[in-house]
Amino acid sequence: TIPDPPAPLAAGHDGLKLSVDPAHPFILPGPDDIRGPCPALNTLANHGYLPRTGVARPDEIVTAVMEGLNLGNDFAKFLVYQAFLMNGNPLTNLMSIGTKTSLTGQDPPTPALVGGLSQHGTFEGDTSMSRVDAFFGDPAAFNQTRFNNFLAFSTQYGFNGTYDINATAEYRHHLLQDSIQTNPELDFTSPRILSAYSEAVFPLVYFVDGRLNNRQLTQAAATSFFANQRFPADFYRQPAPVTFDIIEPMVGTIFNRYPFTPGKNYGVNNYVLMPDTPALGDFCGIYTDIALRVIPAQYPSPSSDLRKALNTNLGFLFDAVKVHHACTQVFPYERD
Ligand code: HEM
Ligand code: MG
Repeated sequence: TIPDPPAPLAAGHDGLKLSVDPAHPFILPGPDDIRGPCPALNTLANHGYLPRTGVARPDEIVTAVMEGLNLGNDFAKFLVYQAFLMNGNPLTNLMSIGTKTSLTGQDPPTPALVGGLSQHGTFEGDTSMSRVDAFFGDPAAFNQTRFNNFLAFSTQYGFNGTYDINATAEYRHHLLQDSIQTNPELDFTSPRILSAYSEAVFPLVYFVDGRLNNRQLTQAAATSFFANQRFPADFYRQPAPVTFDIIEPMVGTIFNRYPFTPGKNYGVNNYVLMPDTPALGDFCGIYTDIALRVIPAQYPSPSSDLRKALNTNLGFLFDAVKVHHACTQVFPYERD
């Protein structure tokens, strides 16, 4: 049976807290430990908030991001169950935070991928801030050249050289323009558009020390998380759980600075708009797209236990969505 998602942190235990406490020392990953495209999850694994192997159950990941970074419970569940449905193994309830591995057990029948978070074209996608587009190389590996651009935009546009909302808006816009001009296979459609814009905002919220909490990420702290995959010494998490209602307005701000329409490149510099696919601001459209198109592409007609597991996880996803969004629940499979 599948464990229920964890409850929110209890009142009185959901505030400022030293993330690098004695129970969570930094230890470099061993040769068989898996790390992937998400600097936050890599850091949490390197400090033992996640299994250091890099293979975890979804409920463990929800707990880790709540404890280590103070993600709000519903927001954590939205990210985790979305990723798990695309990249995890619903039969064993395990997911790799990086590359595909036999440690997640026997795969369900094709076309299921169970590719881990590094699987391109699922949660992982183009125009990342510190990873190259899959067309150019390993999209999960930290790329120093790319990260240098992140720092350069902070220097040029951010207050006191920090990664702030201005630097975020400029860098996010630059990344899309850059991929339009160089990546013949650029795909910038739902659901990637939502993760791309959310992840752009995450660092200036969750990677800033909660005692300061000024939405200005120093280059030293950015380097600690992105390059070293390590909490800065003496790092405190956010002072209260941070969820949709804080992240979404920030996403709106950077979008409004440089609006875009979803689309795909058919050859370099040939960005074909796809206005009939969900736009960034259409949250319920993106939820529906995930549930009715993205997941069934990997699980077109699941039988028995597999269908039950998918339905359970789709239910967890909707439970997370419904707290802040009045979406209508959709059901790709026969209901239990
Ligand atoms: C990137 C998964 C939580 C920060 C990614 C990517 C995945 C992922 C698959 C790769 C997307 C791409 O860039 O192509 C997850 C999951 C989470 C989670 C399943 C579960 C809660 C967080 C949190 C933060 C975070 C709490 C807080 C700072 C980032 C950032 C990137 C990223 C900044 C972009 C890296 C880049 O563009 O180079 N995440 N993530 N993630 N994640 Fe996470
Ligand atoms: Mg990427």
